[in-house]
Amino acid sequence: MIILGIETSCDETAAALVKYQGGKFSILSNIVSSQIQIHKKYGGVVPEVAARNHIINIIPVIDEALTKAKIKPSQINRIAVTTGPGLITSLIIGQETAKTLAYAWNKPIFSINHLKAHLSANWLNNQPIKYPAISLIVSGGHTELTLIKSKNKFIKIGQTLDDAAGEAFDKVAKLLGLGYPGGPIISKLALEGNPKTFKFPRPMINNNDFNFSFSGLKTSVLYTVKKLKKINKKTKADLSASFQQAAVDVLIKKTIKAAKKYNAKTILLSGGVAANKVLRENLSIACQKENLNFLMPEIFLCTDNATMIAAAAAFEKPTPWHKLRVDPNLEI
Ligand code: KG4
Ligand code: ZN
Repeated sequence: MIILGIETSCDETAAALVKYQGGKFSILSNIVSSQIQIHKKYGGVVPEVAARNHIINIIPVIDEALTKAKIKPSQINRIAVTTGPGLITSLIIGQETAKTLAYAWNKPIFSINHLKAHLSANWLNNQPIKYPAISLIVSGGHTELTLIKSKNKFIKIGQTLDDAAGEAFDKVAKLLGLGYPGGPIISKLALEGNPKTFKFPRPMINNNDFNFSFSGLKTSVLYTVKKLKKINKKTKADLSASFQQAAVDVLIKKTIKAAKKYNAKTILLSGGVAANKVLRENLSIACQKENLNFLMPEIFLCTDNATMIAAAAAFEKPTPWHKLRVDPNLEI
């Protein structure tokens, strides 16, 4: 089966062609047109600007995905598109494009939850998954722990009560004057810093639930910065490393705790923050210690892309036309 994936939930216009055959996935093309350079000067994504650029980019991006994959529309079996959560004007452009193509090419359309798609990036490892599994999705808009009882049985068990993990990286980068998006910049700078220099709090680390809070951690970085007389590059690197370690420690402690409570056999990491090397390495070590299988997508499949949208569609039912709608607040 050949699946065309389309993703426009935030500021990436993406299209991909994925083959699913004999229980194995292969990526035929993965095109991502990033708007980071455009939104950088505003310090974050401006929804109206994002939507305008999706309109400009969407057809060329799909065209490029088809050309690179050497696939003709007649060979496509499914069209998958993100319908939420995300920015409503951005989502509409992906959905309307997918609908038009599905109508013109006479293909079934698959409405895809962006969060399920993030965790579906793990299916692209082509490894069997032992259930129950615990999924940690960490992105710019979400931080969620989900219990997966079997392939399509998801139960949300925890989430952030304020900022998402990626949002915290972005805000800390902003307050340190480092630019946008913060995650990749902080993690790079942290390589030159000492994570033990500043003792930042690990919010809610010992709570009995599986929720998170990152707003207090960010504020703690802010107060520390205000108290410092002079901040040079080394101080920024130490602040970055110390903040990153605090965020990673909380994410790992709660994930492992959830795995123990629900007798999970597997941990699945995903979302933009899953590109963070310290999180990847530390969680991998923690899973080894607990004898848990650990899966994470390749780094290029962690941040928003359409390959994960196509992968998610392999196990979904087609969406009837009258049920197609975007939902900016869609939950897992
Ligand atoms: O999944 P994603 O591309 O978009 C959403 O669905 O939100 O995630 C984007 C988020 C941003 O907050 C970005 O700063 C963060 O992922 N991110 C990282 C890294 N790369 C991207 N955070 C920490 N370390 C990274 N290496
Ligand atoms: Zn995302």
